[in-house]
Amino acid sequence: MSLGLFLWLAGCGAPAESGGACDRDPPLSYTNFGQGFMGRHCAGCHSSLLPEDHRNGAPLGIDLDTLEGVQKWAERVRVRTVPTDGGMPPGGGPTEQERAMVSEWLDCSLLVEEAP
Ligand code: HEC
Repeated sequence: MSLGLFLWLAGCGAPAESGGACDRDPPLSYTNFGQGFMGRHCAGCHSSLLPEDHRNGAPLGIDLDTLEGVQKWAERVRVRTVPTDGGMPPGGGPTEQERAMVSEWLDCSLLVEEAP
C-alpha cells in the first residue's frame, strides 16, 4: 500500500469520527501555510542554502526550505513537530494551534501537493 493511500485511510478516511478533519476549504497547502511555518520555525537551521557550520547542528540533508524537502521528511517532521515534546524546533515556538495545523497539512494534502 502506498504511503499516500495509507495516510488517506488513516487520516481523511474517517472525517466523521475525527471531527471533520480534511474539510477545510481550501485545504492547507505549502503556499498558504507550510512555507510560512517552515520558514519561521525550521528553515533557520534546516535549509538547503545553509552550510554545515551555519545549521546549529541540524543534520546536513534534512532541508525543509522547499515543498520537496518537507515531503521527503514528512514522517520525521510529524514525529518531531506535532507533539509539543517532539523536540523541534529545539527552542520551542509554534503554538498548539500551529502544531495541529502541521498535522492537518501532513494528513490532508502535503503528500499529494505539487510544487507551485
Ligand atoms: C535551532 C536550530 C533548529 C531549528 C530551528 C529546527 N531544528 Fe530540527 N534539528 C536541529 C538539530 C540540532 C537536530 C539534530 C538533533 C536532533 O535530532 O534532535 C535536528 C534534527 C531534525 C530532524 C532529524 C532527526 C529526526 O528525528 O528525524 C528533523 C526531521 C527535524 N530536525 C525537523 C525539524 C522541524 C520540522 C523544525 C521546525 C518545526 C525544526 N527541525 C527546527 C536543529 C533545529
